[in-house]
Amino acid sequence: MKSPLHILHLEDDPNDVTLAQATLETGGIRCALLRVETRADFVAALEQGDFNLILSDYSLPTFDGLSALDLARVRCPDVPFILVSGTLGEELAIDSLKRGATDYVLKHHLARLVPAIHRALQEVKERTKRRQAESKRRQYSRKLERLSRRLVTAQETERRNIARELHDEIGQALTVMQLNLQALLQSPHAEALTRRLNETLKLAERLLEQVQGISLDLRPSMLDDLGLKPALTWLTGRQAELARLKGEARVADLPHRLDPVIETECFRVAQEALTNVVRHARAHAVSVELRPESGKLHLRVRDDGAGFNVAAVREKAVRGESLGLLSMEERAALAGGGLEFTSNPRQGTEVHAWFPLKWQTPQT
Ligand SMILES: Nc1ncnc2c1ncn2[C@@H]1O[C@H](COP(=O)(O)OP(=O)(O)OP(=O)(O)O)[C@@H](O)[C@H]1O
Ligand SMILES: [Mg+2]
Repeated sequence: MKSPLHILHLEDDPNDVTLAQATLETGGIRCALLRVETRADFVAALEQGDFNLILSDYSLPTFDGLSALDLARVRCPDVPFILVSGTLGEELAIDSLKRGATDYVLKHHLARLVPAIHRALQEVKERTKRRQAESKRRQYSRKLERLSRRLVTAQETERRNIARELHDEIGQALTVMQLNLQALLQSPHAEALTRRLNETLKLAERLLEQVQGISLDLRPSMLDDLGLKPALTWLTGRQAELARLKGEARVADLPHRLDPVIETECFRVAQEALTNVVRHARAHAVSVELRPESGKLHLRVRDDGAGFNVAAVREKAVRGESLGLLSMEERAALAGGGLEFTSNPRQGTEVHAWFPLKWQTPQT
């Protein structure tokens, strides 16, 4: 059996309370009613009791329904509040709803109280459900954010390690091989093998170049060693040369090194934006600009190429058909900033990202 509804009833006439209770019981609502009549008793009841519903008369000898409504909205905003009054003009009724009353019922139409209560309780149920869903959504989104952060950090560490390994181990070994082959070529006994040695030397040189290229793409050591300005300038030049377009990097001098997370995320956003220019834009020129402005660090990558329909591409990205744009947005957001694209077909593209101006903490 359902537990009875706990109702706080602000009413000076005990007969009206009995009548209300009888109406509710006839309508199938079991209830336990507490009648109060003064402001002090009403406040005390709100503070002590755990009510499912408040019914209130409009005018009482020493108190009134609208003041009770104000008090209830502050102390227990989720408990439905229904005015039950002998007379309530249209204006007052509207005013009470505006001030947060759930409903109003006239005493000579008391039968309306039952559906009004059902509706009010249904609303409470739905509101609670919505809140629970919203809190779950927030929990998931926090979890997802933590996961993304972990993923991005793990990816950076991995890239740094592989880049170092390629550069230091494989790169060094290939350099030794190159030197040995060059020495062999100088040897008087090498004549018969000259062709083979030259071929192998070229191969070693090509491999070395590739290894260095992959290592730089993974994570240029200059980003860690020298900072964002040289790394961005180098990246712009390299990508522009690769795509045979005019590249310009306008990177402001900063007074200090930036926080390594900001440096990394900003570099990665620029890297993806430039890769997109090379792959998709068919541009003549690309520019990369980095400067502090209104307390934030702004990165702008602009091209004069084919442009694209942002809304259509975004839909494709959400379906998982491409990752670049989403990952740029994610990286900027994880670093505490944001990102927007401006692009139209045949009018070029601008990727604008901003980051907090966070400086590297001095190492002790
Ligand atoms: N600078 C640009 N100029 C023209 N089109 C662009 C530009 N940048 C992005 N696009 C368009 O937006 C689409 C989505 O870009 P996004 O970087 O998300 O994916 P992608 O580069 O195709 O693949 P990936 O997931 O490997 O990055 C591209 O396929 C391209 O059509
Ligand atoms: Mg891309």
